[in-house]
Amino acid sequence: MNWEKIYNDAKLWVKEAGERIRSSFQQTLTIRTKSNPNDLVTDIDQEIEQFFINKIREVYPGHKIIGEEGYGDQLEQLEGIVWLIDPIDGTMNFVHQQRNFAISLGIYENGIGKIGIIYDIVHDEMYHTLRGTGAYLNNHPLPLLPERTVNESIIALNAIWVMENHRINHQLLIPLARDARGTRSYGSAALELVYVATGRVDAYISMRLSPWDYAAGALLIEELGGVVTNLRGKKLDFLSKDSLLAAKPGLHQVILKDYLNNGNW
Ligand code: IPD
Ligand code: CA
Ligand code: CA
Ligand code: CA
Repeated sequence: MNWEKIYNDAKLWVKEAGERIRSSFQQTLTIRTKSNPNDLVTDIDQEIEQFFINKIREVYPGHKIIGEEGYGDQLEQLEGIVWLIDPIDGTMNFVHQQRNFAISLGIYENGIGKIGIIYDIVHDEMYHTLRGTGAYLNNHPLPLLPERTVNESIIALNAIWVMENHRINHQLLIPLARDARGTRSYGSAALELVYVATGRVDAYISMRLSPWDYAAGALLIEELGGVVTNLRGKKLDFLSKDSLLAAKPGLHQVILKDYLNNGNW
């Protein structure tokens, strides 16, 4: 398998998709809701997913595709080469802010991550890795992640998870939020994972994400020595929704053992 070629093609297509999204700022969006009134999707989310699918089907007809907007394949296992695509991660931000969103693309072979690309279009910042060759921001290599204590950490965490009425032990998150130096919420899982990879935040916690949200980000973080699991400390599978804890080395273990240990996540 020529992974260098797949890597280059993927980066090129992500860049081209980014151009299309950027030019959509001039046009009026068609916005619909999905599972609830706050779950938005636009015609651009759908168009961009279809753009990737057309490219992949043309150049790599044997590859499989999982896309958030449902134009890809319905897969029950991850055999072969699978592209996991989130055409716009942070659609709410895209609609309301025209910033703080990204394209997220992960490519896996038999369930093992090979390529991760996250493109912050507004800043023209592409974060990318081909497993084993380092992780980059555009052409600049990213440094390995150092260790960090909870007290010195900024933790990305959506306030929704600390509220009651979710069937989770939200109380367990209160001591963590209190002990951390600060918490942040950006509204794009892909960018929050990139912020862990670049050290802008030290950890990211979510109770529920989908494989296309973290397929690329998990790879970038792991390439830099960080750790990504679900909140039970188990490996993520890339076929179903799961909780997520991504953090610097060491910090991941401390959060898991000292704070999340008794949760029903
Ligand atoms: C969402 C964003 C958000 C996260 C949600 C995701 P979308 O993705 O990543 O930050 O909290 O769980 O669904 O729908 O904007 O691609
Ligand atoms: Ca969505
Ligand atoms: Ca998403
Ligand atoms: Ca999306």
